[in-house]
Amino acid sequence: MASARQLAAIALVAAAVPAIAQAPPPVTFTDAEVRRILSLGPWPPPPVVDPSNRVSGKAEAIAFGTRLFADPRLSTNGAIACTTCHQPGRAFTDGLPRAQGLARVDRNTPTVNDVGGQRWYGWDGAHDNLWAQSLRPLVDPREMGDGVAHVAAAVRTHGDLRERYVAVFGRPPPADDEVVAVDVAKALAAYQEVLATPRTPFDDFRDALARGDAAAMARYPQAAQRGLKTFVGAGNCTACHLGPRFTNGEFHDIGIPFFVEPGRVDPGRHAGIRRLGASRHTLTGPFNDDPVRAPGTSTRHVSLEHRNYGEFKVPGLRNVARTAPYMHNGSLATLRDVVRHYSDLPEDRLHADGERILKPLGLDRYGIDDLVAFLETLSAPLPRP
Ligand code: HEC
Ligand code: HEC
Repeated sequence: MASARQLAAIALVAAAVPAIAQAPPPVTFTDAEVRRILSLGPWPPPPVVDPSNRVSGKAEAIAFGTRLFADPRLSTNGAIACTTCHQPGRAFTDGLPRAQGLARVDRNTPTVNDVGGQRWYGWDGAHDNLWAQSLRPLVDPREMGDGVAHVAAAVRTHGDLRERYVAVFGRPPPADDEVVAVDVAKALAAYQEVLATPRTPFDDFRDALARGDAAAMARYPQAAQRGLKTFVGAGNCTACHLGPRFTNGEFHDIGIPFFVEPGRVDPGRHAGIRRLGASRHTLTGPFNDDPVRAPGTSTRHVSLEHRNYGEFKVPGLRNVARTAPYMHNGSLATLRDVVRHYSDLPEDRLHADGERILKPLGLDRYGIDDLVAFLETLSAPLPRP
C-alpha cells in the first residue's frame, strides 16, 4: 500500500500534468518566416534626402519648416495649422475618425512620422512627392486655405517668415505666388523628413533573431511572438505590410466600405490617379529640382484601371497603437477591431477584381489577442511621467 507521503507526491504530479499540457508550446519560425521577419528591419533607416527638393536635409530649412508646421497664419482664418490635425502629442494624428479643418474632410488624418521617402502620398496617392502633399492642405478650402496667394502673402508680410525664407532660399520671395508657396511646402517637407519613430520592442527581437541571441529573443513576450508568427505566416499580412515601414507603398482594397455618406463614395486610388495626372506639382512637372528628373518614372507609367476603384494606400504600421482610429475613413476604433475585420473578412465586400491575397483568418479569441499584442509592440513604450 502506498504511504500517505507517496500518495501526496502522486497527487502533486497529477496536478502538475494539466498545467504542463496547457503551457503554450514555445514559438518556432520556419525559414521563410524568419526571412520575412528580418525584412521588417533594420530600424532606424538611413536619413532621407529628396533630390526633387533642393532644401531637403538643410538645417535652416528644417528649422523654418518646424515653425511653419505650427503656424496658423498660413490658414485663411488664421486659426488652423498643420499641428491642428497632425498633433505632435498624438503621434501627429488628431484622434478623430475624419479630419476637421475649415470644414469636415472625408478622410482620417494619417501620421507624418516616417513620412519621407515614400513613392506616393495621401490615402489615394494623388501626389508623388512630399512637398506637393504638403502644399495641398494650404490650398484646400476644407483644410487651411483657398490658394497659393494667401500663403505667398503671409511670407511676404510677416517679417519673421520673410527673414527665414531669405535665409533658406537665398533670395527674397519672388513675385510669382506659386513659386513662393511651393518653396514653403519644400521647407515643410524638409522638416517632416526628420520625423522618425523610435526603436520598438519588436526591433529588439528582430535584431536578436538576426544575430541568433536566444536570451535576448526570450525577452519578447510570448503572446507577441505568436502574433508575429500569424503576421508573417498564416495571416499573410506581409503580402502588403512589408519592409522596415511595414508597407509596400501600393494600393489595395481590404473591404472597408467606401461610402462617405449615402449616395457619395470615395473612389480612392482611382481619383488619386486622375488628380496626379492633372497636377503641376509632380516629379514630371516644372517644380522638380532634380536636374535628372529620374524619379518621375513611376508617375509617367501609372495607368488608370478599373480595379483602382476603392483602393487605398497600405499604411505603415510603426507606432500604430498610437494612431487610432484606423483606416482611410477612421471607421475602426481599435486595433482589436482591425484584427477582427481581417479575421471575419467580408469577402463579398472586396469589390472590383477582388483581392485574391486576402482570406478570412477565422481566429479565435486567443489568436486575436496575440495579433493585437504583436501590433502593440510596434510602438515604443511611452516615457514614464
Ligand atoms: C484639417 C486637418 C489637416 C490639416 C490642417 C493638415 N492635414 Fe495633412 N492630412 C490630413 C488628412 C485628412 C490627410 C489624408 C489626405 C488624403 O488622403 O486625401 C493628410 C495627409 C497628409 C500627408 C500624407 C501622409 C502620407 O503618409 O501619405 C502629409 C505629408 C501631410 N498631410 C502634411 C500636412 C502638412 C505639411 C500640413 C500643413 C501645411 C497639413 N498636413 C495640414 C489632415 C490635415
Ligand atoms: C492586400 C493587402 C493587405 C494585406 C494582406 C493586409 N493589409 Fe492591412 N491594410 C491594407 C490596406 C490597403 C489598409 C488601409 C485600408 C483602408 O483604409 O481602406 C490596411 C490597414 C491596416 C491597418 C490600419 C492602419 C491605420 O493606420 O489605419 C492595420 C493595423 C492593418 N492593416 C494590419 C494588418 C494585419 C494584421 C494584416 C494581416 C492579418 C493585414 N493588415 C493584411 C492592406 C493589407
